[in-house]
Amino acid sequence: MYAIPGTTRTNPVEAAPALAVVSGTPAAAAHGHTSAAGQPPRTVAAVLADSQVEAVLDELDHDLVGLKPVKQRIRDIAALLVIDKLRLGMGLQSHNPSLHMCFSGNPGTGKTTVALRMAQILHRLGYVRKGHVVSVTRDDLVGQYIGHTAPKTKEVLKKAMGGVLFIDEAYYLYRPENERDYGQEAIEILLQVMENHRDDLVVILAGYKDRMDTFFQSNPGMSSRIAHHLDFPDYAPDELLHIGHMMLEQQGYRFSNEARSAFEQYLQLRVQQPHFANARSVRNALDRARLRQASRLFADRNRELNEDDLCTIQAPDILASRLFNESIPCPTSAPTAASRP
Ligand SMILES: Nc1ncnc2c1ncn2[C@@H]1O[C@H](COP(=O)(O)OP(=O)(O)OP(=O)(O)O)[C@@H](O)[C@H]1O
Ligand SMILES: [Mg+2]
Repeated sequence: MYAIPGTTRTNPVEAAPALAVVSGTPAAAAHGHTSAAGQPPRTVAAVLADSQVEAVLDELDHDLVGLKPVKQRIRDIAALLVIDKLRLGMGLQSHNPSLHMCFSGNPGTGKTTVALRMAQILHRLGYVRKGHVVSVTRDDLVGQYIGHTAPKTKEVLKKAMGGVLFIDEAYYLYRPENERDYGQEAIEILLQVMENHRDDLVVILAGYKDRMDTFFQSNPGMSSRIAHHLDFPDYAPDELLHIGHMMLEQQGYRFSNEARSAFEQYLQLRVQQPHFANARSVRNALDRARLRQASRLFADRNRELNEDDLCTIQAPDILASRLFNESIPCPTSAPTAASRP
């Protein structure tokens, strides 16, 4: 049997108090799993208050645009865990819920972001000790030579214990075209640890939906260990725009009215381009717009700049994108020229 040194099975009720959470949001405050009087909580409200899990769910709703089905699934999983805690507190049987997940969706649809929130929820409810996320790809797990893969995979698993192991583009672990591919060795170790340490390690596999489906068909062992499949849809144009506004606001910037409609046009063009990556493309476009805004202001050496100047993205900062100027090489989608403003 494959064992990770230094780990033991931990009843969630006895889980250690919070350590730091590696995520963009504040670490959970140290929380107990019993009430002040030493009694296990008896109501959903008491578990929520103890764990502060509701704050993470609210942040998820508030900070992330769209993703309605994903948010609902996360609420459902949180509900399952809260009820499981109440059952444990009452001495009822707990089935030690399997929490390994698959997040499928196109690039930039929020999979990594949601994984960080999921880790916080699991941690606050005591299902993992630390709540950190270790994000890896095939290269972090699979070695080049015989004998390299096991130690590599084991090292990653050790780092991830007590938190979430997020395996991006997990299907690259399986290369059927190469008979002696070491990916299979990594998969086998993962499978054992996913079973034997499922109360202290949650594995999230992520990647394109069709490739994940094929991967699961060829790896039924992995498929059977994944309890929750969450699909991350592409964002609709209005959601992309909303995401853009939120990102700008978080950075202390805003669009002028003209820039806003220029950005809308920009998005219409960008979604048709190769390598469009949903919210990630929005973030990249805004980064470039801020660069252009800075260059524009920088060129005006002697002008006194006010708050509005410094915070406003103007239309030219968007319209200078090569998308508006160049003929767009887009072999897969014909209508780009027609739709150019
Ligand atoms: N629904 C959303 N609302 C606001 N911002 C979002 C949303 N989804 C993603 N983002 C932002 O977009 C960027 C990309 O998101 P993330 O890295 O989570 O996507 P991903 O699905 O993991 O992408 P990839 O497959 O490329 O790794 C991040 O900066 C994230 O904060
Ligand atoms: Mg990601």
